[in-house]
Amino acid sequence: MTPPQQLTLAVAGATGVVGQHVVARARAAGHTVVPLSRGTGQDVVSGAGLRAALDGADAVVDVTSVETTRTRASVEFFTRATEQLLAAEQAAGVGHHVVLSIVGIDGETSGYYAGKVAQERLVAAGPVPWTLLRATQFHEFAAQMVQRTAVGPFVVVPAMRTATVAADEVAGALVALATGAPCGRAADLGGPAEAELADLVRRYLAATGQRRRVLRVPLPGAAGRRMRDGSLLPGPGADHGRVAFDEWLGELVSGR
Ligand SMILES: NC(=O)c1ccc[n+]([C@@H]2O[C@H](COP(=O)([O-])OP(=O)(O)OC[C@H]3O[C@@H](n4cnc5c(N)ncnc54)[C@H](OP(=O)(O)O)[C@@H]3O)[C@@H](O)[C@H]2O)c1
Repeated sequence: MTPPQQLTLAVAGATGVVGQHVVARARAAGHTVVPLSRGTGQDVVSGAGLRAALDGADAVVDVTSVETTRTRASVEFFTRATEQLLAAEQAAGVGHHVVLSIVGIDGETSGYYAGKVAQERLVAAGPVPWTLLRATQFHEFAAQMVQRTAVGPFVVVPAMRTATVAADEVAGALVALATGAPCGRAADLGGPAEAELADLVRRYLAATGQRRRVLRVPLPGAAGRRMRDGSLLPGPGADHGRVAFDEWLGELVSGR
């Protein structure tokens, strides 16, 4: 039997929510991992440290992110980061750029999603053969909402239909894609069930013993409408993770 191919995978955003799982999954599969983040001297915005770190890499998985809801900050971050990564990959002879994006963001022109649209366009038009996976919000997004939007005893959550998926399953899909040939846009990946984001945040708060009240706020404009009307849900032809939100939550609180 031929052993599976062992590759060198660089992970940009290795310290992030999904990035940590990408690193763990890739190592568990026997690949050599080059973690990239500011703590280890690589900055995707300035480009510092990237070229040298990519020596010998077969593929780069980009799971970097910026914490903002501002259009300009998001577009600037994802544009700069993608340009820097692709230039370093081209210079180092890396033959595969794998990027994670978000289900249903077509046509978004404002907020965080505008940056993701800019990132997708740059990758598709870029010089490095690419694979793009769009996933729905992670189960972990409920925790990220609490970290980012808690104001005193309140957590402000946009009204949003979502089919969250475990970040670990997204990471598994990214590693599988990174070890294959570049394939352009891959099938979308969603979670096993639809839910209202505010309900997930309430379940997360209850399970982790936090006494905070969730305020579900319908956001204005087209982007807010798309959050509410199901545009961010996976469509026909999408793949679906198997780990349900409550199963993920149970494992989180039991420390498994
Ligand atoms: N969260 C979700 O529900 C979700 C759903 C679908 C898709 N996605 C996509 O998945 C990706 C990762 O999201 P996440 O929530 O896992 O992100 P995250 O937890 O916020 O992590 C962000 C990562 O980016 C790195 N980073 C930020 N600025 C950097 C810089 N200037 N140079 C180098 N590294 C930098 C951070 O590393 P250091 O701070 O250590 O440098 C960290 O590892 C994003 O592209 C996001 O759009 C997220």
